[in-house]
Amino acid sequence: MASVSVAKARKNYGHLEILHGVDIDIQDGEFVILVGPSGCGKSTLLRMIAGLEEVSGGDISIGGRVVNNVAPKERDIAMVFQSYALYPHMTVEANMGFSLRLAKAPKEEIKARVQEAAQILGLEHLLDRYPRNLSGGQRQRVAMGRAIVRQPQVFLFDEPLSNLDAKLRVQMRSEIKQLHQRLKTTTIYVTHDQIEAMTMADRIVVMRDGYVEQIGTPLDLYDRPANLFVAGFIGSPGMNFIKGKVSSDGPLEFEIDGGVRLPLPDDVSLERGQDAIYGIRPEHLVVRPPGSSARVTLIEPTGAETQITATLGTAQVIATVRDRLALQSGDPISIVPDIAKVHIFDAATGKTLRVF
Ligand SMILES: Nc1ncnc2c1ncn2[C@@H]1O[C@H](COP(=O)(O)OP(=O)(O)O)[C@@H](O)[C@H]1O
Ligand SMILES: [Mg+2]
Repeated sequence: MASVSVAKARKNYGHLEILHGVDIDIQDGEFVILVGPSGCGKSTLLRMIAGLEEVSGGDISIGGRVVNNVAPKERDIAMVFQSYALYPHMTVEANMGFSLRLAKAPKEEIKARVQEAAQILGLEHLLDRYPRNLSGGQRQRVAMGRAIVRQPQVFLFDEPLSNLDAKLRVQMRSEIKQLHQRLKTTTIYVTHDQIEAMTMADRIVVMRDGYVEQIGTPLDLYDRPANLFVAGFIGSPGMNFIKGKVSSDGPLEFEIDGGVRLPLPDDVSLERGQDAIYGIRPEHLVVRPPGSSARVTLIEPTGAETQITATLGTAQVIATVRDRLALQSGDPISIVPDIAKVHIFDAATGKTLRVF
């Protein structure tokens, strides 16, 4: 196992800069997830760590050694891609042992390591099958098995679950996490799916347009997003963002365009009349029928909870409630934010103004 450090890493394609100086320090044994919208540079960064893309600036280190000019196969890493890229004419056993055969490892050792990986992944009964006779989840497991037999210092995953259906994704998610708990190999995992990131990672790196927006534990990012982008990206349904300004007279409140007022926490320094964005997660809105501050526009029960979409002055918000309220579209209700959970963002920069 090894630590991985990315320092001021840049990537250019011709004149186009894709990564603009990325800094990430990954501890030995950590499970770190790079998450962000499609095209933000996640795969490019992962491929630079793997040695499949040249580094245009800065340094990539594995186990304290700068590897910018070290060939991929000398980096002691194993990568699992979205497309499993199994050899169709080879059995599961041959696929899993391929890299060891290539490295001319002794036959008995290859057999033992493949057996061990197959046992970890529950593939023992499939070793004689060909990839075409496997389900998507089984193929994904073989691709992981191929990485495991190499006993690398670092695992790199690039959207490994994207080709699986929703149910299998959830299952493989917990399998990969358990695998990490068992092997404790440093892992860097790329996904665009924030739920995958939240449920699996020790720490999450949120990227956008070639920049790192924030690094933290899943709950850190959820509770203390540094800016509007992270606040909106993490969580589903997303945080409600309400445009407005700090009241210019009367009690210090937040005034939504159109006149509705919301309470402001007193631990954030704001100017009278200042434009701002009020952020509140759906579960931190308290819904009380009847009332008059808001009007229901949509009710969406999911079973465990119900999502209520409502208009609050000129703003539209989503509230999540666990009680089964007898509400209908058009009903007037009262919606009150839990003031301890209010986020306030600068209207111009999107930076958080309330630091928890
Ligand atoms: N070989 C290339 N030449 C030019 N641009 C590229 C190349 N590969 C990737 N890009 C661009 O780099 C950006 C980041 O791509 P990528 O790392 O694949 O994003 P992600 O994995 O986050 O979806 C994208 O805008 C993509 O079009
Ligand atoms: Mg990608």
